[in-house]
Amino acid sequence: MDQYIIRGGATLHGEVEISGAKNAAVAIIPAALLVKGVCRIENIPQISDTDTLLTILTQLGARVSYLSKSTIEIDCTDTRYQDAPYDLMRKIRASYYLIGSMLGRFGSAKTTMPGGCNFGVRPIDQHIKGMRALGAEISVKNGFVYADAIDGRLHGARVYLDKVSVGATMNIMIAAVLAEGRTIIENAAREPHIVDLANFLNSMGADVRGAGTDTIKINGVEELHGGTYTIIPDQIEAGTYMVAAAATGGEVLIKNIIPKHMEGISAKLRETGTVIEEFEEALLVKGPTSLRRINLKTMPYPGFPTDMQPQFGVLLCLANGTSVITEGIYDNRFKYVNELRKMGAEIQVDGRVAVIDGGRRLTGAPVHACDLRAGAAMVIAGMVASGVTEIDDIHFIERGYERFVEKLNALGADIQVHYDEEESASARAFSIS
Ligand code: EPU
Repeated sequence: MDQYIIRGGATLHGEVEISGAKNAAVAIIPAALLVKGVCRIENIPQISDTDTLLTILTQLGARVSYLSKSTIEIDCTDTRYQDAPYDLMRKIRASYYLIGSMLGRFGSAKTTMPGGCNFGVRPIDQHIKGMRALGAEISVKNGFVYADAIDGRLHGARVYLDKVSVGATMNIMIAAVLAEGRTIIENAAREPHIVDLANFLNSMGADVRGAGTDTIKINGVEELHGGTYTIIPDQIEAGTYMVAAAATGGEVLIKNIIPKHMEGISAKLRETGTVIEEFEEALLVKGPTSLRRINLKTMPYPGFPTDMQPQFGVLLCLANGTSVITEGIYDNRFKYVNELRKMGAEIQVDGRVAVIDGGRRLTGAPVHACDLRAGAAMVIAGMVASGVTEIDDIHFIERGYERFVEKLNALGADIQVHYDEEESASARAFSIS
């Protein structure tokens, strides 16, 4: 079984370099399909989700080459329509961006319903609503999505999102870039990766305005051209190391970040007594000797991100007093609580609310990584627990954290990776490629 084996008790010290943002990269790679020319993309995170998407593009006829570990060139000039490879599409959530990019480029898309982490029902009705407004005929049958631009090319339209959705906002942006006329997305999501996608598209010749606000205007253009683009740093990866530093009572300089993107996370960490010093592209995080309880609620950006909720769940097990976490985005993002209970945590969950009775000493145990961020949370729990923690299903963690174990061990953690050759052969094939 693939496992991380963590000997607890480390105090993290030193510097860590943050990689490119996963949730920007997983939209930008599919969006490169719109470009006739070479897209040079810098600061690509080396994680299995980006590897999977690059493999999908290659199977659609793109030429992908690595200039360095984090710089790639994608040339989609000679791609032509074909059905997207279903086995790969099913693996990840972000494969839904192929619906927008294939519709925009070819006027047709046939894909599977997306995979990804399971936090309860994760519909894509707002993506479909947007594509329909742009003139696509869409049906979902037997787990497949069939989409065709009725006139062969999409046309601009006004789309109001009934729910603030990161994926729907970015997918509609991608589809609208080559559509005829103007598209307006209202009640759009405002996450940093939405601005990053807009900047990428604009640097390739698109005309996208207002990203980062709740109204995004896209004037369709005839063609996109090649160019060079650097992906922003990963807000959630940075936040995870910040919590790891705070939880272990360490002192870590988090480098290559945009402090503005970290404000929601920094604010809640400061409430726990954690000291944070801000520099131009770095944050110094000093864990306190004793953590204070807090309440938090996850919300769309600029609110506190749901993707940091499990890591804070662990932190608040250590804080003195009772903390309350309210999950404002997903129906079922507290599955990791059962794993934490195995380590001695006292947490009551009622629907979207978790009440954490803090001040506990966690003890090592065999646990699962239920999903990507829950897995990262279990790693933090393992580092602060006494004894040894064995985490399985670590492929979830490797979907989104570049060289996680290597970076943590460089800060003083004691984590060994055990790969089972048979179990991990296919999962790791992507990470290595
Ligand atoms: N929703 C709908 N209909 C839709 C789309 C979304 O009802 O058509 C609902 C969802 O079920 C959810 C809420 O709206 O309750 C927000 O979902 P959103 O669309 O914003 O999420 P997503 O695009 O599926 C992305 C990230 C997630 C992150 C969320 C929220 C990617 C590939 N995934 O998901 O990242 O949690 O935004 O910020 O960008 C992660 O990185 O660990 C991760 C899960």
